[in-house]
Amino acid sequence: MYILGIETSCDETAASVVKDGRSILSSMVSSSLFLHKRYGGVIPEIASRMQLEAISQVADVAVKEARLRLSDMDAVAVTAGPGLLGSLLIGLSFAKSLALSLKIPLLGVNHLHSHIYASFLEGLRMDFPFVALVVSGGHTNLFYVKDFSKIENLGQTLDDACGEAFDKVAKILGLGYPGGPAIEKWARTGNVRKINFRCSGTREEFDFSFSGIKTAVLYLTRNRRLSNREKKDIAASFQEAVIDALLKKSLLACRRKKANRLVIGGGVAANHRLRVKFVDAGRLQGLDCYFPRPALCTDNASMVAGLAYPLFKKGFRDRLDLTAQVDLM
Ligand code: KG4
Ligand code: ZN
Repeated sequence: MYILGIETSCDETAASVVKDGRSILSSMVSSSLFLHKRYGGVIPEIASRMQLEAISQVADVAVKEARLRLSDMDAVAVTAGPGLLGSLLIGLSFAKSLALSLKIPLLGVNHLHSHIYASFLEGLRMDFPFVALVVSGGHTNLFYVKDFSKIENLGQTLDDACGEAFDKVAKILGLGYPGGPAIEKWARTGNVRKINFRCSGTREEFDFSFSGIKTAVLYLTRNRRLSNREKKDIAASFQEAVIDALLKKSLLACRRKKANRLVIGGGVAANHRLRVKFVDAGRLQGLDCYFPRPALCTDNASMVAGLAYPLFKKGFRDRLDLTAQVDLM
């Protein structure tokens, strides 16, 4: 079964053809990142204008790369939310028009759930239940996955998302945008123990808070000219504290739920230090940690087409009046 996936939840315009929820036949990602760089963050209006211009071509190329035709598609899947409203509407309108004209089923999928599915495009066995951590530019959530149609939200960030904190701290340090890869690069030769940063505690045990640590970086650096050495140490100490907070809560969730599998997804999961620390700590607790390759951590449409397959098999279909879900569904 061939599913065409469409993803336009943030600044990317992505399309992908996935066979039977497992094999990626093509994956096109066109980003408007270069246009947002000068503003230090995504400007929603610019993102959706670019998506409107790019979407048909990106989808066309994805189908051609897969050596198929639009008429070979068995279903079209699209990110319905959460995300930027204008951006989601571009993908939804395009997917609906394809479903209508090709007379094929339409499936709207949750963006965060699709980040979890990304690891299953890497051949991971479908064993349920498991705990999942999604760490992206807009969200930070812990989930308990009973199957792909029964995903329980255990907790989330109360303020900034994890990737957002990386982006903002990189901006404070003048390291550029997007901040995640920049912080990772500068942290590589920094001293993780130089500054004792810590993420704020939360009343609910599986919630997160990252705005306090971001403010701590701001206060530490305000009105100061930082040397490269200092920037590296701040980047390393900040990154370490954020990873430690993610790790502590994820391990706790696995213990509480008696889960021995932890699946991690979202842009921040591309971070090498995070991957190493999760695998090492997981091993000590008898826990297997899974991540997709970095290109499948950041936004892509293969995870959308992939997740739609088990949902389709379970009988899920959407109507053409499907609307964008700006918040967590
Ligand atoms: O999942 P994603 O591509 O888009 C959203 O759904 O938001 O995540 C983007 C976020 C950005 O905040 C970016 O800075 C962060 O992921 N990111 C990273 C790394 N690569 C991307 N954060 C830390 N380390 C990285 N290597
Ligand atoms: Zn995402």
